[in-house]
Amino acid sequence: MPVWAPLTDQDRVDLVAYIKTFSVRWKTEKPGTPLQIPASEPEVTAERLKVGQALFQKMECGKCHGVEGRGNGPSASTLTDSKDRPIVSYDFTSGHRFKCGSTDRDLYTIFMTGLDGTPMPSFSDNINSDQAGDLVFYLRTFQPIHTKEREIAKQIGLRPIDPTGTPTQPENSPPENK
Ligand code: HEC
Repeated sequence: MPVWAPLTDQDRVDLVAYIKTFSVRWKTEKPGTPLQIPASEPEVTAERLKVGQALFQKMECGKCHGVEGRGNGPSASTLTDSKDRPIVSYDFTSGHRFKCGSTDRDLYTIFMTGLDGTPMPSFSDNINSDQAGDLVFYLRTFQPIHTKEREIAKQIGLRPIDPTGTPTQPENSPPENK
């Protein structure tokens, strides 16, 4: 899927209108209740990172994404989309572009709504908005870019933990591109 940066705002609106003619669901179904995303973004702290890590473990994100966010969890090799085609879970350490945007708000939206047609579930019934913010912070520690979250994780010696709660070895840390 190429980048379509040259399209104007009007082009985008027109394209969306046309794409919506491909499925009758756009006519027959009403939109669900919009997801509530807090307007102000919280500040990352060591405490919030730890809560995020605990949630990552409790919600078993690592089953697909791996305890270190490498996309290699125990279920990863068995995943298929709704048409039975193999699909990979996102590898946070790869530095690859997110399909659905890379802001904190985008990440929040992805795991709260889930991604229909893929095995990526919705967690909005299981975590509240504060917890979701903490989870976003923890995801940032996996990325091979300089983030405030990564810096704090390093300072407090926060290591990814396996399903038994045991920290992984420090040398598994992905290199950082500044
Ligand atoms: C059952 C497997 C599974 C579990 C559990 C799971 N994911 Fe995913 N996740 C996926 C798959 C598969 C994709 C890739 C979907 C795609 O490429 O269309 C994905 C994609 C993502 C993305 C990136 C989407 C993008 O824009 O490219 C984020 C962020 C994410 N997951 C976060 C989480 C978090 C946080 C949790 C736990 C709260 C979680 N996932 C649990 C399977 C899973």
